[in-house]
Amino acid sequence: MAKTSTGILHATRNDLGANAREVSVGVLNAALADAIDLTNGVRMAHWTVRGPQFAALHALFETFYDQLGGTTDEIAERVVQLGGTPDGTTQLVGAKSRLEPYPAGLRDGMDHVKALAARYAALAKEVRAGIAATGDAGDADTSDLLTGFSRTLDKGLWMLEAHLG
Ligand SMILES: [Fe+2]
Repeated sequence: MAKTSTGILHATRNDLGANAREVSVGVLNAALADAIDLTNGVRMAHWTVRGPQFAALHALFETFYDQLGGTTDEIAERVVQLGGTPDGTTQLVGAKSRLEPYPAGLRDGMDHVKALAARYAALAKEVRAGIAATGDAGDADTSDLLTGFSRTLDKGLWMLEAHLG
């Protein structure tokens, strides 16, 4: 089992209490692993998609992983701001991600759309739970960051489901 950083906080002048920071670092690190895992799934879809909608899906998946890349950076940097260490290595992501493993053999465009829609929905659900947990712990800023992320995931889910009729 890979070691994670949650619970070991570095000193900071940030005025949030240790409990709030500890809750947020745990929630953020869980979301970070999921988001990096999802990014890699989207990249697999971008690389391997085949079929009549190739051009549109190849381009759409690129916008998705660009968005996810920006968000994962924000999440990881907030972990550090709160005194934590991002669980961002390949090994930690593999050990911690709550998403179903992305199937390596997918090729058909709609199979990729369905696989990504399931994972966008699953991650949005986890992130929404994190919005509440960090808000209740007193960290409105992390709650706000996660709120923005959930909105991005919901929009991505809409775009994916629009392909499915
Ligand atoms: Fe590319």
